Amino acid sequence: MPAPSSPASFMATIVSLCKRRGFIFQASEIYGGMGNTYDYGPLGVELKRRVKDAWWRAMVTTRADVVGLDSAIIQHPKTWETSGHVLNFTDPLVDCKTCKARFRADKLDEVQCPQKPSRTPLENKCELTEPRAFNLMFKTQVGAAEDSAAIAYLRPETAQGIFLNFKNVLESSRLKPPFGIAQIGKSFRNEITPGNFVFRTREFEQAEMEFFVPPGDDERWFEYWVNERFRWYKELGLRPEKLRLLKHEKLAHYSKATTDIEYEYPFGWGELEGIANRTDFDLKAHSAASGVRLEFFEPETKEHYVPYVIEPAGGVDRMAMTFLLDAYNEEQVEGETRVVLRLHPRIAPITVGVLPLVKKDGMPERAHEIEAELRDLGLTTFYDEKAAIGRRYRRLDEVGTPWCVTIDGETLKDGTVTVRERDTMRQVKVSTQELGAHLLGALRGWPKG
Ligand code: GAP
Repeated sequence: MPAPSSPASFMATIVSLCKRRGFIFQASEIYGGMGNTYDYGPLGVELKRRVKDAWWRAMVTTRADVVGLDSAIIQHPKTWETSGHVLNFTDPLVDCKTCKARFRADKLDEVQCPQKPSRTPLENKCELTEPRAFNLMFKTQVGAAEDSAAIAYLRPETAQGIFLNFKNVLESSRLKPPFGIAQIGKSFRNEITPGNFVFRTREFEQAEMEFFVPPGDDERWFEYWVNERFRWYKELGLRPEKLRLLKHEKLAHYSKATTDIEYEYPFGWGELEGIANRTDFDLKAHSAASGVRLEFFEPETKEHYVPYVIEPAGGVDRMAMTFLLDAYNEEQVEGETRVVLRLHPRIAPITVGVLPLVKKDGMPERAHEIEAELRDLGLTTFYDEKAAIGRRYRRLDEVGTPWCVTIDGETLKDGTVTVRERDTMRQVKVSTQELGAHLLGALRGWPKG
């Protein structure tokens, strides 16, 4: 049996699993909770870290043409005037005259009326104000002086920090277009209607890359990055039938073309990542506003030019949630429901469960030794000696652990352990000397067959 079919109950199942097993918690829960804000628990932080590692590996470490950056969250306020965020980064907002709730005017068919949660404000015929532009940037104040000169913003995207450092990176890395600068970090948006768990929150992490290309090569690179990013999600296990590409008809002020990678969530198709052809808009705008030339000098033609930019921009929290939803499965095994997260082993929070069959006869001690050896190989392990072995397997299935190693009486006699694979539940005997190589080989060889 696949995941539960009702969309609302499926989301509730995932939210509950996340809390119960320590993936994601409501933030500030002991004070009654901070709306639409979440904390990542021990397993969630591992999942998210692995998603970021996989992204960084694909976008930076395995490529000779992309380098990394970690820019500040609070940049010079002029950054956001120049980028267009002060003027354009707005959503249309309406207020309900009766209950004072605020809604995004363009999402009235997707939200609940607080007075009648079974209905949308449209269905409830709420009396709404005219739409007005609401800027999504969080304003803050830098330093002790409370005058307007000290106003700054929490970045609403990581991209601008990359543009501001274009010249620094170009000069220090001696790269030439086509090349990219990648960054992962927190962004902040005062969303009017956050929701759907960590799909849309006010504080979130982005993984963005700005790829600088000679003008004229931009359309080719745009296609390349759309395909590359689509491939990445499939390679990490998302079901292809749940993914699609959607071309934007209405474009942002900086974009010549944008295509979203969408996933079919329980609440409908939604954007997972966007790939935009940002043209030379940002570099030209920052160049004009700062007086610093942000361009590339081509020694062969002895010409200066402003590169075009292709931007794959994804949200890490949205990625983590998507991998969780996609991996969730319920199936009937021996008259019981087995919940299993079929996560790709590269992003599973625990790679190997280490389980002594019983809590005696030297098995726990040998299991601890084996666990230490596996940790030395860089594998994330989890030791568990509580409850019957079947129950322990189920607990590890539920958090997506691809392999369990069981230490039994034979381990002490002939040095073999049982390796159980999560998806097939098949068990094989492996000698402890070959265990590390066996697991690393299986990890590298995933998906099987
Ligand atoms: N620099 C381009 C940019 O920021 P975006 O489409 O606004 O583009 C990129 O954001 C990605 O960031 C989205 O595809 C989504 O995955 C993620 N994202 C955006 N707003 C978010 C929010 N409020 N909560 C969680 N993730 C968000």
